[in-house]
Amino acid sequence: MYSTSPGAIGIFDSGYGGLTILNEIRKTLPDYDYIYLGDNARTPYGTRSFDVVYEFTLQAVRKLFERGCQLVILACNTASAKALRSIQQNDLPKLDAARRVLGVVIPTVEALGEISRGGNIGVLGTPGTISSGTYDIEIAKFFPRFRTVSEACPMWVPLIENGEYDKPGADYFVRKNVEELFAQEPDIDTIILGCTHYPLMLPKISEAVAGRAEIVCQGPLVAKSLASYLERHPDMAARCTRGGNVEYLTTENPDRFAAAAANFVEGPVKATRIELA
Ligand code: DGL
Repeated sequence: MYSTSPGAIGIFDSGYGGLTILNEIRKTLPDYDYIYLGDNARTPYGTRSFDVVYEFTLQAVRKLFERGCQLVILACNTASAKALRSIQQNDLPKLDAARRVLGVVIPTVEALGEISRGGNIGVLGTPGTISSGTYDIEIAKFFPRFRTVSEACPMWVPLIENGEYDKPGADYFVRKNVEELFAQEPDIDTIILGCTHYPLMLPKISEAVAGRAEIVCQGPLVAKSLASYLERHPDMAARCTRGGNVEYLTTENPDRFAAAAANFVEGPVKATRIELA
């Protein structure tokens, strides 16, 4: 049985990508405490099977629960697409029915009505997210008239995790996948970066898109949605501590994590290594 004491908000991703979500959440909700967990030792998740992504994600959620988090955000589209529903429906009732796990896909899709002018949506994501069809399904539910095309970008997360996101080698893969997306539908007006790692390559993606469509980063949308969730659920807000602190956990070398994360987040990063099982 987990503790009922208030705890930090848990933010989970397979690696560094969730930091793009954490940054925006902290801008919107600076008073709360956060624990960021990156499973850097086992990234990328995007090429793994449903079963494995579910197993790894559940391990991460359990770890964050053990650390006292009453609310966990899966700041990873692959985990949101492949594991969130099972965790919410099957695992949470057994683990602790009062705790909550939320994802990043629905807050992104919900916002499209205000963003897209023509309803022609392009989604870029990991092979796992794209093959799950989650975006196509959710967009069709919320906006039946919208059309969605999507493209898997298998090389983008490895480029980012290996610090190549701003190097010339990344240009080839960014241009290739963006052109493959437009080849499916030249009239796309809105492109969702459906992987939380991708905003780290935004300058290159913007260059490749060259003004043909609006590019949507999820961070501000997830932050707004979380703020609204906490307002609508004061009981949960009261179970999240407020001190403005962030703790970083990684399954890889903590110094390596801290050095890489320092490029993406403001303020000092001191990481602790943990094991997931
Ligand atoms: N940031 C994760 C996402 O949003 C990347 C998944 C991966 O590790 O491939 O999908």
